[in-house]
Amino acid sequence: MKILVINGPNINMLGIREPDIYGRETYSGLIEKISDYCKAKSLDVEFFQSNHEGSLVDKIQEAYNKFDGIVINPAAYTHTSVALLDALKAVSIPAVEVHISEVDKREDFRQISYVRKACIAVVSGRGTDGYLEAIDILCRNGDKR
Ligand code: DQA
Repeated sequence: MKILVINGPNINMLGIREPDIYGRETYSGLIEKISDYCKAKSLDVEFFQSNHEGSLVDKIQEAYNKFDGIVINPAAYTHTSVALLDALKAVSIPAVEVHISEVDKREDFRQISYVRKACIAVVSGRGTDGYLEAIDILCRNGDKR
């Protein structure tokens, strides 16, 4: 199984940005943690992070016919981007939406998610372990298919 992990704007600032909300783990630490997890499960994994909406759309489009699952933390674009929703729908690769913080308990504007409509599940408020949970969800979904 081949999984693409996509992170949106400011996720590269993990460990520096608002540690009370997002924790002290860095982006490179996150990549290492997910890589180790996937290695132990014999899963292929690739990572992509961008602060630009169009680059995220491009990457989702490029994933067509190449990946079996997408883990996506669209970060702020979660709450604004119809383009990301449409891209996920276009490729119809099973996707899981991840948020490090518990978005449903934060500001009202964070409770809107456009991408959610194209995702098979949402993992929110589990810190960076949420990415690993999302991978498990994709694996279980893959077994069913
Ligand atoms: C986030 C939550 C978003 O509201 C925010 O804009 C982010 C990170 C999270 O992982 O908790 O950048 O997606």
